[in-house]
Amino acid sequence: MSKKAKLIIDNKDYEFPILGGSVGPDVVDISKLYSSTGNFTFDPGFTSTASCESSITYIDGEKGECFYRGYPMDELANKSSFLEVAYLLWNGELPTKEEWFEYSEAIKTHTMVHEQMKKFFDGFRRGSHPMAILTSVVAALSAFYPDSIDVNDLQQRQISARRMIAKVPTLAAMAYKYSIGQPFIYPDNSLDYTENFLQMVFAVPAEKYKVNKVFAKALDKIFILHADHEQNASTSTVRLAASSGVNPFASISTGFTSLWGPLHGGANEAALNMLLEIGDVKKIPEYIKRAKDKDDPFKLMGFGHRVYKNYDPRAKVMQKTCHEVLEEVGKKDDKILQVAIELEKIALQDEYFVEKKLYPNIDFYSGITLNAMGFPSTMFTALFAVARTAGWIAHWKEMYLDTKNRIGRPRQLYMGEKPRPFTELKDRN
Ligand code: SDX
Repeated sequence: MSKKAKLIIDNKDYEFPILGGSVGPDVVDISKLYSSTGNFTFDPGFTSTASCESSITYIDGEKGECFYRGYPMDELANKSSFLEVAYLLWNGELPTKEEWFEYSEAIKTHTMVHEQMKKFFDGFRRGSHPMAILTSVVAALSAFYPDSIDVNDLQQRQISARRMIAKVPTLAAMAYKYSIGQPFIYPDNSLDYTENFLQMVFAVPAEKYKVNKVFAKALDKIFILHADHEQNASTSTVRLAASSGVNPFASISTGFTSLWGPLHGGANEAALNMLLEIGDVKKIPEYIKRAKDKDDPFKLMGFGHRVYKNYDPRAKVMQKTCHEVLEEVGKKDDKILQVAIELEKIALQDEYFVEKKLYPNIDFYSGITLNAMGFPSTMFTALFAVARTAGWIAHWKEMYLDTKNRIGRPRQLYMGEKPRPFTELKDRN
């Protein structure tokens, strides 16, 4: 017997089916609400709204757990590789040895970008933010790869997905090199995925580049932590954009745009800038006070989450990785890390943060770690986007395979003027 929800409007009873997933909260299917009651639902920010069925990632916000295709994300972070996780998110299963060889070799054949894309970069000022460059360059991929933009062709969907996994790191590295006036470094397919990215970012033609294995392992783990996260703002943006049938490159570029916001993927850059501004543990109480002041727009960047009402499991892995990298660079007593650790300790004992269930999220420690590796803060969100591209294309594919998929078109609660006649200018005072 399927469960039902009853709604009474103007003394009339309406029933709506309650649907259950494999784990997590049930949903009330209100897709027939408007046609049967003439009412819309109202849920700004979608705090109580499931926008789709999905089998990719599951987050238990109360327990602070996250699973990619059923595998605990922190277990994948410690035992898998980012490229294997990208395969898992896209295919739903971990690859066999044969599948892994085919996939990893195929990705290598796509790491270079069309040579003419270099000219695209020349149009930007040197000091442009890498995300300003990437939001447009990723969309421009559809102009350079028109042979894989037919969203109804399964083969083209796979090619464009593999092209994005392979080319986004190259483009991100190019955006960085361009911003510092250094020459672009071509991919080196003798290296693994993350080592290759590091050499494209930090190598220079004048010297032989040696991959720092501690950095490569740490960054690969960071990519895994950032790979996907259910229907977050940027993933929902990709789904809504893609629902119109636009090509995959343009769809994924909308994810870059949304992710850039300081409340979302831009928080890692904002969190480090906040920690640098605080600068000393003695100044922490002043900033905690500001974060609690309703009249002060200041928020503790890297704190709080729409879903996690417990410690973000990614932040735990991030903190451990942060210590490993700082140890590697001889900064284990880094002053900014001390500020972060003390800030976390004080906040987690403060009733404001406890009552509102505000814990460190993935962005709280990532900035310190990436900064220690030599990445400027302007590259932090670009790194987030390199990783999240794996999640975005998995959701893009899932949306097209969903038989319930329709163009996304939310309604509204209209608060404007009631219909009124036009007044000629000559008749207006
Ligand atoms: C990411 O969705 C995802 O999964 C995102 C992400 C992913 O992997 O895709 O996890 C990545 O975006 C992580 C979040 C990074 N953003 C930040 O660190 C920015 C700082 N955090 C906040 O802006 C906020 O916590 C959000 C945006 C993360 C969540 O916002 P919500 O769910 O809309 O919560 P809210 O802003 O309504 O906050 C609830 C209350 C409010 O107080 P009241 O109005 O109830 O009195 O908590 C307060 C907020 O003022 N609050 C904070 C705070 N975060 C929330 N107060 C101080 N400092 C903060 N950081």
